[in-house]
Amino acid sequence: MRTSHGETYKKCTSTLLKLILVATVIVIFIITISIQWNTQIVFGVYTKSVPTNVTPCAYLACSHSSNCTTRNKTCCAYVLKRSLDFLDAFFRRHNLPYVIIYGSLLGAVRNQTIIPWTRDIDIGFFNWTYLRSTSIQNELYQHGFYLFHTLDLTRICVHKDTLDKSLLLTQNVKQPPPTQIFHLHAYIDLYLATNSVNLTRNSSIYSIEFSGKFLSHISFKTNVTIDNQTYPTVDNVQEHLVHFYKKDYMRDVIPRRP
Ligand SMILES: *[C@@H]1O[C@H](CO)[C@@H](O)[C@H](O)[C@H]1NC(C)=O
Ligand SMILES: *[C@@H]1O[C@H](CO)[C@@H](O)[C@H](O)[C@H]1NC(C)=O
Ligand SMILES: *[C@@H]1O[C@H](CO)[C@@H](O)[C@H](O)[C@H]1NC(C)=O
Ligand SMILES: *[C@@H]1O[C@H](CO)[C@@H](O)[C@H](O)[C@H]1NC(C)=O
Ligand SMILES: *[C@@H]1O[C@H](CO)[C@@H](O)[C@H](O)[C@H]1NC(C)=O
Ligand SMILES: *[C@@H]1O[C@H](CO)[C@@H](O)[C@H](O)[C@H]1NC(C)=O
Ligand SMILES: *[C@@H]1O[C@H](CO)[C@@H](O)[C@H](O)[C@H]1NC(C)=O
Ligand SMILES: *[C@@H]1O[C@H](CO)[C@@H](O)[C@H](O)[C@H]1NC(C)=O
Repeated sequence: MRTSHGETYKKCTSTLLKLILVATVIVIFIITISIQWNTQIVFGVYTKSVPTNVTPCAYLACSHSSNCTTRNKTCCAYVLKRSLDFLDAFFRRHNLPYVIIYGSLLGAVRNQTIIPWTRDIDIGFFNWTYLRSTSIQNELYQHGFYLFHTLDLTRICVHKDTLDKSLLLTQNVKQPPPTQIFHLHAYIDLYLATNSVNLTRNSSIYSIEFSGKFLSHISFKTNVTIDNQTYPTVDNVQEHLVHFYKKDYMRDVIPRRP
């Protein structure tokens, strides 16, 4: 069949219009899903098996007062310390290495404790495949902790139905369930520590990936003390702290987060 140039042109434009329409529908669909899931990276590998919903987390109204301690049960530092101790034992039992980093390392080096006004414990983690397995997620849940992924980080919170009621002492049941990470006052952040021998040519040097890479020497021999207990950390503690908090990290007041 012979068609005129005009007809071919019309066919082409209508096909093009259809394509644009389909693309628009797909984009709107993606945006809707992204908003519903309340996360930035719906298509990241992370979200494949890890929930992105914050709602199962307990709404804790724990205190961030500067005179708070890890022994005062109304303080967020208490919940954080208890969570860290549970995870330390849990990770050891599963042979999952981890390291204390960022603000948690800063608090440990400066005051041998958890910074009272912090919202999170920062952990560098190595084996995502294992951590994100359904069996690990279920086991964490049975012990009162919920693993989820939001705003580009895998995190762990105390969930609403934890049997350990001392972790829920400050729970505010009148509040609607949390819908955003900003509603949570105490949680664990897990940062991916990857080893690329090509990058470093040294298998004991890891890269901690968040807001710029930072290379850490990790031998699993260096410990840091928090409330008379030791936890594993990076080998280059000074370098790490200077890199993230500048050289006056022992004196400078680290700004509080909102
Ligand atoms: C526990 O912390 C809260 C909040 O900062 C404070 O009001 C309270 O006095 C503290 N209790 C003790 C026994 O230190
Ligand atoms: C802790 O600090 C709060 C204010 O941040 C103050 O009202 C309270 O009296 C302090 N408690 C103690 C035991 O010092
Ligand atoms: C911790 O130590 C630093 C300096 O070493 C100090 O400025 C700060 O007030 C101390 N207290 C807390 C709760 O972080
Ligand atoms: C992660 O854990 C799984 C399951 O134990 C294991 O098969 C795998 O080798 C581990 N990967 C790394 C990089 O340690
Ligand atoms: C690492 O480097 C080797 C040789 O230098 C190369 O063959 C290999 O593909 C590289 N691997 C990655 C993951 O880049
Ligand atoms: C790898 O890095 C560690 C820590 O910096 C160092 O002790 C070790 O000698 C290095 N190994 C090699 C083969 O360069
Ligand atoms: C670090 O702590 C672990 C476990 O608590 C212990 O086995 C190890 O000997 C400690 N290392 C150092 C250098 O203190
Ligand atoms: C740590 O140990 C010292 C001395 O043994 C003790 O005075 C202090 O209360 C302990 N701190 C905590 C948080 O357990």
